[in-house]
Amino acid sequence: MSAEPSCPWSTWSGHALVVGGGGIGQALLGELAARAPGLQLWCSQRRPLAAAEAVSGGVGAVRQLSLDVSDDDSLQALRQWALEQLAPLRLVIYAAGVLQEGSMTPEKRLSQVNRHAFERSFSVNAWGPLLVAQALEAALPRDQPALFASLSARVGSIGDNRLGGWYAYRAAKAAQNQLLSTLAIEWRRRLPQVCVTLLHPGTTATALSAPFRSAVAPPQLFSPERAASQLLDVLERQTPAESGRFLAWDGREIPW
Ligand SMILES: NC(=O)c1ccc[n+]([C@@H]2O[C@H](COP(=O)([O-])OP(=O)(O)OC[C@H]3O[C@@H](n4cnc5c(N)ncnc54)[C@H](OP(=O)(O)O)[C@@H]3O)[C@@H](O)[C@H]2O)c1
Repeated sequence: MSAEPSCPWSTWSGHALVVGGGGIGQALLGELAARAPGLQLWCSQRRPLAAAEAVSGGVGAVRQLSLDVSDDDSLQALRQWALEQLAPLRLVIYAAGVLQEGSMTPEKRLSQVNRHAFERSFSVNAWGPLLVAQALEAALPRDQPALFASLSARVGSIGDNRLGGWYAYRAAKAAQNQLLSTLAIEWRRRLPQVCVTLLHPGTTATALSAPFRSAVAPPQLFSPERAASQLLDVLERQTPAESGRFLAWDGREIPW
């Protein structure tokens, strides 16, 4: 009987950061602890953290940092923290996102479109991951492989858009795809060891999808744990030579 191939990250050392400790973010951290035991895991929370929370976490535990991706001061603090604490940063997964918040709700028709929802959605879903990449760039390794992955969504695919609606979320995810595809091209020259990957997790039972998933049959609705495991299975197979891909949870390419 042949042994299971070991995870390529099992021997990695350094740091890993999951941005956004929501449903999928938390599940990713649980899976990463098993697959990459040599990496110090970090999770960002949007809310400010008390000093004790920020330093909590002994060996093998997840450490917390505070980051609001819509706030420039917060991003500047991340840049400083990355230089001081996070190098070498081998693995980053951007798992923050917003679909509905306060009066902002996915639009069904043109009359519901408004500027505030676009600004809010683009801030977190579009340029959030790019500004995080900018803040973290100096901590990424030059001499060993690393991954920068971000959770996009299939609805961000222009080629796959058959249903319409959800203007702000859809357009923000499409913009994220373009921004990170452009980043992959730049880093191929400047940080050739870093693989940039856009991932669609599939419909997953989290707070984000809760109001919108009544039509999704259980086999197509993933638990956060299952989604995280599938996403990491896909990510494990990515190498710097494949940087810039937009992949679904099953490893299949999604049209831009
Ligand atoms: N669930 C799905 O079916 C599904 C499908 C396709 C794609 N996705 C994508 O997967 C990712 C993870 O979603 P999820 O399902 O895990 O949703 P979730 O449970 O709602 O988690 C979203 C996370 O984003 C954080 N966030 C929102 N605004 C932020 C900001 N300004 N700064 C920092 N963090 C912020 C939230 O923080 P707070 O807790 O402070 O609000 C929360 O931790 C998102 O990008 C989403 O678009 C999800």
